[in-house]
Amino acid sequence: MSREIVSRSDSGRYRVVTVVGARPNFMKAAPIERALFSRPAVEHLLVHTGQHYDQAMSSVFFEELGLREPARHLGVGSGRHGEMTGKIMIAFEQACLELEPDLVVVVGDVNSTVAAALVARKLFVPVAHVEAGLRSFDESMPEEHNRRLTDHLSNLLFASEPSAVTNLNREGIDSDRVHLVGDIMLETLQGFLPRIRERRRWEELGLAKGCYSLATIHRPSNVDDPRSLEETVRLLRLVPGPTVFPVHPRTVASLEKFGLTGLLHDIPGMVTLAPEPYLEFVSLLEGARVVITDSGSIQAEASLFDVPCLVCRENTERPIYVEQGTTELVGRDVEKFREAFEKMASGQFKKSAPMVSTLGLHVAEKIAEIMVDYLTAGHKSSL
Ligand code: UD1
Repeated sequence: MSREIVSRSDSGRYRVVTVVGARPNFMKAAPIERALFSRPAVEHLLVHTGQHYDQAMSSVFFEELGLREPARHLGVGSGRHGEMTGKIMIAFEQACLELEPDLVVVVGDVNSTVAAALVARKLFVPVAHVEAGLRSFDESMPEEHNRRLTDHLSNLLFASEPSAVTNLNREGIDSDRVHLVGDIMLETLQGFLPRIRERRRWEELGLAKGCYSLATIHRPSNVDDPRSLEETVRLLRLVPGPTVFPVHPRTVASLEKFGLTGLLHDIPGMVTLAPEPYLEFVSLLEGARVVITDSGSIQAEASLFDVPCLVCRENTERPIYVEQGTTELVGRDVEKFREAFEKMASGQFKKSAPMVSTLGLHVAEKIAEIMVDYLTAGHKSSL
């Protein structure tokens, strides 16, 4: 397939393909799917790369979020970065040739995001990137390369916060392509709020609301090296228990490989779980007194619930949640960690600003509207 001008698919509607692959993609794709589904001009299909494939990392999210069955499941699985990215590219190129999308939507910053964006542009299919412009300025993060490359490949860039727009301007990306729409994570959370509030996951673990800590750690910088992982586990010893820790498969593998599983389980009050489904995890977050994490998206979710969020990283691609939310960057620094807990104990830890009113609502609706305008205007892919 090689086309210069956006054309209608055989159904007479524009065919939009959203690519998902890894856990943090699913909750971002769900509101987009709903917004596009209600637009008669669009036929929306999902493609799942299979970067994440465990029931707990993938299918459970489809069920809970009400995502429709993907039109294609590429079944790529795990691997080294180059290998995984390459496999996704080969499989997604074939899917693209068969599905003939008028627009490919990619979300976030995982390997599936950049792989799909590159394939689409090489086939002259325009690309929309949701969560564009975020930068940690940390070259050691695989996601930072994925973010930059995806943004420079994209025709439509949907930014979640003002810093993202500044970053894209600085990199010389045409401002006509950039749309500040707000944070899709908050939209998902808002949409599910009644169900999240009902869920009360902590009760099933025999815990009381506001009386436990929550931890998630999976970044390569914290878990891939034995010293870093040991430091991280020792940091968790300082957290007031009980601590609920849904452990990512990458972390499980590293704990076993470096012989640190015992050190983690010896922490008094440590409750380890398999990765939690979406509603269960955000319910645990709502009820937690603090979350210790190296995730990006959890910074947004914690700020909405006004839960203190200690980030075991030196940087963040989401500075708005440091400036106006509850994020504090503590790295693996014991002193910073202790200070944050002292502030919490004395009621001096910062409170979150009303993030939704800062960033705006109806994110997916705005995205869908801009996409449909773009398609109906018959833009040329500018490769
Ligand atoms: C990926 C993303 C990261 C995101 C994270 C959320 C990239 C570069 N990184 O990291 O940004 O925060 O997902 O989860 O795309 N594994 C399983 N079952 C699964 C998936 C993975 O056992 O369903 C194991 C495999 O051993 C695999 C390892 O976890 O090698 C890491 O998975 P991978 O997708 O490579 O990266 P994540 O660390 O999950």
